[in-house]
Amino acid sequence: MFEAIRENPNQVIVRDILKTNIKTAHVFEKYGIDFCCKGNRPLKEACDEKNVSVETIIEELKDLNTASEKEDLRFDQWDLKFLIDYIINNHHSYVRNAIPQLMPHLEKVAFKHGNKYPELLEIKSHFENVAEEMYSHMEKEEKILFHIIKYLVDSKHFNEKPRMNGFKTVKNPIDSMEAEHSNAGGTMEEIRKLTNNFTPPADACNTFQLTYKELEDFEKDLHIHVHLENNILFPKAIELEKELLKL
Ligand SMILES: [Fe+2]
Repeated sequence: MFEAIRENPNQVIVRDILKTNIKTAHVFEKYGIDFCCKGNRPLKEACDEKNVSVETIIEELKDLNTASEKEDLRFDQWDLKFLIDYIINNHHSYVRNAIPQLMPHLEKVAFKHGNKYPELLEIKSHFENVAEEMYSHMEKEEKILFHIIKYLVDSKHFNEKPRMNGFKTVKNPIDSMEAEHSNAGGTMEEIRKLTNNFTPPADACNTFQLTYKELEDFEKDLHIHVHLENNILFPKAIELEKELLKL
């Protein structure tokens, strides 16, 4: 894989590197390279945007390969219904647990230290927006889009042409979910900037430190979550629909 990247960094797509090993996400994160919302573009372009050389990324990816002995989850090979259930049970439930845990910490820190560190008030307001958006976003996915995708999988199983009725095509709800991913990702990026890459000030109390760590974890989880949807689940659902409409 490394030779292919080295020879054709203009053709190797970021999301395809992630499909080979989800832990490559750590390398992209380290250099601020967006692998979820903007994962569908050549590595070279993504590197140029962040002023990182392709060679640096290759070296880091190599280190990662030697370091990881554990078998990786092959999301790309999973049945779509299983992938959906994984997203709900792992990522959606993480978000639902993390928000009520994080919010009181953020409120406390903003209240106590907002005078000295006014960015905390901005961070709090950004995170409140992300939280609200994520709750409604996940509900829409669970109540609408994921059902449509599961219906497509069942249609394939019975070799039947799906009836899309009101939605016309699965692409419509996917487009709006992708737009919401971009929004949430963008707001988390703002938070990353405001927190100076989640680095608390030297005099930060424990809750302050914990809050930054929780925000960082939240962003990390969101990146993987969005990657699984934007780069694996959604393109496969669109392909599946195309295939079934030919029946
Ligand atoms: Fe989503």
